[in-house]
Amino acid sequence: MAFLFTSDAARARVFAEVFARGQPELAFVTDPSQVDPNAVRYLLSWTLPDDIARYRNLEVLFSIGAGVDQLRLDMLPEHVRVVRMVEDGIVRMMQEYATLAVLALHRDLPGYLDQQRRGEWRARATTQAPDRRVGVLGLGLLGQAVLDRLKPFGFPLAGWSRAARSIPGVACHHGAEGLETFLAATDILVCLLPLTPETRGLLDADLFAKLPAGAALAHIGRGPQLDQDALLAALDAGHLSGAVLDVTDPEPLPPEHPLWRHPRVIVTPHIASVTQAEGAARAVLDNIRRHEAGQAMVGLVNRARGY
Ligand code: GLV
Repeated sequence: MAFLFTSDAARARVFAEVFARGQPELAFVTDPSQVDPNAVRYLLSWTLPDDIARYRNLEVLFSIGAGVDQLRLDMLPEHVRVVRMVEDGIVRMMQEYATLAVLALHRDLPGYLDQQRRGEWRARATTQAPDRRVGVLGLGLLGQAVLDRLKPFGFPLAGWSRAARSIPGVACHHGAEGLETFLAATDILVCLLPLTPETRGLLDADLFAKLPAGAALAHIGRGPQLDQDALLAALDAGHLSGAVLDVTDPEPLPPEHPLWRHPRVIVTPHIASVTQAEGAARAVLDNIRRHEAGQAMVGLVNRARGY
């Protein structure tokens, strides 16, 4: 029985060690040409290999990242289970980045960076945290962890998800009806949604129009969820006051793209949250044990739902 690992070499070294200690009977392989395809029960990857059909006995496909949209699940045989990465490093980094983005927008960092470029020493208007409503789109593991980390700042917190959720201290909304109410009461919108057919293009002119004037966006989901032209138009019209974007479409964002130079926008190159090898290796090993014991794996994807 083999585990085929197709991520980078540095992570492979860490995984190999953790697997050798924890599951020595499972062959750990990084070179597909060195393994009998029929022996491969588990595959860890970021994208789906074109020759996936060779692995006829594949049982579980592990994503090296939190997202699974890049895995082209429609190309994968029905019986293969798909697991997204759930490990402490991803969660902690997402909490850090979302906090960074929310505070940057709350304290108008884009405005101060713009002034700095001009050498302009001037205090800008402030809003106090109790008057700044933060709303998180997506209330899965990451959305909930982010809300938890934001609590001490004193922002009124809200969240929206497809299905109903209840989180202490957070005004929870759900479904299409809940979205309008949620948006109308959100000053800083944080997008942490997975990319699915329903969320593709969700952050568009219509949605921005439902936010209060002066609202801002922290986009930490997936690039194709955002209509970038609509964002630029809403910023230029003054309806939105700023944006922090960690994901774009395409990635990398071309050097000449207007988002790079917009005075109200901060762009980072999809670095908000990165899988940490040690925690990831332990999480995958734990899931293999669960799978072999007939228990539910942590991060198991509902393939029909797409996340
Ligand atoms: C990064 O975007 C991930 O899916 O982990």
